[in-house]
Amino acid sequence: MSAIATLEVKTAADLANQPEEYQTAVKKIVISHAVNELYGAQVFDEPAIALAPTPYAKWLTCRVAMEEYHHHVRFRGLAEEIGVPAASMDPKVKKPLSIFSFELKTWPEFCVIKAIADYAEILQVEDPLHRSFHPLRNLARITMPEEKFHPKFDKDFCGELIRTADRRASVQDAINRYFPITPGFFGASKSKNNELYLKWGLKQRTNDEMREDFLGRVTELVEKDFGLTLPKI
Ligand SMILES: [Fe+2]
Ligand SMILES: [Fe+2]
Repeated sequence: MSAIATLEVKTAADLANQPEEYQTAVKKIVISHAVNELYGAQVFDEPAIALAPTPYAKWLTCRVAMEEYHHHVRFRGLAEEIGVPAASMDPKVKKPLSIFSFELKTWPEFCVIKAIADYAEILQVEDPLHRSFHPLRNLARITMPEEKFHPKFDKDFCGELIRTADRRASVQDAINRYFPITPGFFGASKSKNNELYLKWGLKQRTNDEMREDFLGRVTELVEKDFGLTLPKI
């Protein structure tokens, strides 16, 4: 096996002793997590507390918002440890992912966004569970149980909404408008970053493999679990 394939970096401090290319790749991943966990909490989870229709829904939405902000705090902490400047984690400086570009206005939209987008988030956090950079791997392991809770929470709320005809139509409408922007979350088929991450054992799957996995999971959720239709993309 090559030295790259067996590379194991156990501490944040040890990152500075690794090849430049590896350091850059690790920093890109940590910055992306830090920026997108923050931006998602700002544009979706926190505003959704006001949209939640009952005290119970508000309580659980508060929990989701709290956890997403906490994910940001954790990744930001790691970023600071490895010398990433604070400015590069500002969503105004580093552009957030396109899945956050949807303008959230209603509770059914939020339920659909979280039920679908959090599957994508799970895949992103699942992938580094065996990464060569242990501090990142450890963060992914701590974060995973919470990420798994989020789509389950929204699947339950979507399940409630689709029991009545008018709300069922609003869930289908939100799926029709939100789903088409999600496959882009996984990046281009030919991506220099993805090649770099695979080379250095920071990811295990190509963007296309992850996208295919995501589409399979979302198809099952929307068509089998909800009995709704996934729009053609
Ligand atoms: Fe998160
Ligand atoms: Fe999440």
